[in-house]
Amino acid sequence: MSTALVTGGGTGIGRACSLTLHRSGRAVAISYRRSSDEAEATVAEIEAEGGRALAVRADVTDDAAVRAMVDEVRERLGPVEVLVNNAGATVPLPLDDLEGATDEVWQQLLAINLMAPWYCARAAADDLRAADDGVVINIGSIAGQTGNGSSLPYAVSKSALQGLTRSLARALAPVRVNEVAPGLVLTRWWAGNEERGRELAASALLDRETTPEDVARAVLGLVESRAITGQTITVDGGQTL
Ligand SMILES: NC(=O)c1ccc[n+]([C@@H]2O[C@H](COP(=O)([O-])OP(=O)(O)OC[C@H]3O[C@@H](n4cnc5c(N)ncnc54)[C@H](OP(=O)(O)O)[C@@H]3O)[C@@H](O)[C@H]2O)c1
Repeated sequence: MSTALVTGGGTGIGRACSLTLHRSGRAVAISYRRSSDEAEATVAEIEAEGGRALAVRADVTDDAAVRAMVDEVRERLGPVEVLVNNAGATVPLPLDDLEGATDEVWQQLLAINLMAPWYCARAAADDLRAADDGVVINIGSIAGQTGNGSSLPYAVSKSALQGLTRSLARALAPVRVNEVAPGLVLTRWWAGNEERGRELAASALLDRETTPEDVARAVLGLVESRAITGQTITVDGGQTL
């Protein structure tokens, strides 16, 4: 049984990825920083279905913590053959609020949305290279393509993640590195703004909400598509077409 590591794998899109990867026959390590209850609940759900799973705590913006996390996963579940860099964050700011985009906000968002995927890929690189078909999936955002989104530093951090996807695909080959870029997905990110989220979702071409499971299906598709690397798949119901 191969092992997948999903950062932030106990909540929202990450949880859907954890369950989908488990149902495709993989053991799943679920990382969390604060959401221990959600991570443990996802582990319990996988185990109840007869799978193998592990919750592991790490702040993925901390390189040493990431290396320790990958070591623990290798020891307890096996080497990481699939890495899903899902953990991410934003600081909501109007795009034209230039003074609001302080150095602190920039550093915070580049740390979680760009450096964390880099740390995780580097820490797992030996495992991924040793696998028959090692693969990294980065969860980006349409904000990285359109420049629009919850804040300017968020959009730029997700653009940079696209760049990391391309460069890592070269640096790690034959390990494959791809990106899934969701549009609006009604996770806890939209808590308190569900009405606005539903309005926006309804304006997408397909006139339906994109769900965490929709994103997870695209992740699994890329994990299992042996000829695809360095690519971004947009999962947004046609929001940006
Ligand atoms: N929802 C959307 O509309 C949307 C659209 C486009 C892209 N995305 C992307 O989808 C991904 C998942 O977001 P979501 O909507 O599913 O929201 P979410 O449930 O809030 O997921 C974010 C996850 O990231 C983890 N995380 C944040 N900072 C961390 C850190 N420093 N170390 C470790 N883990 C950390 C959180 O874990 P803890 O709670 O334990 O801190 C949480 O599990 C993100 O990369 C986001 O940018 C979301």
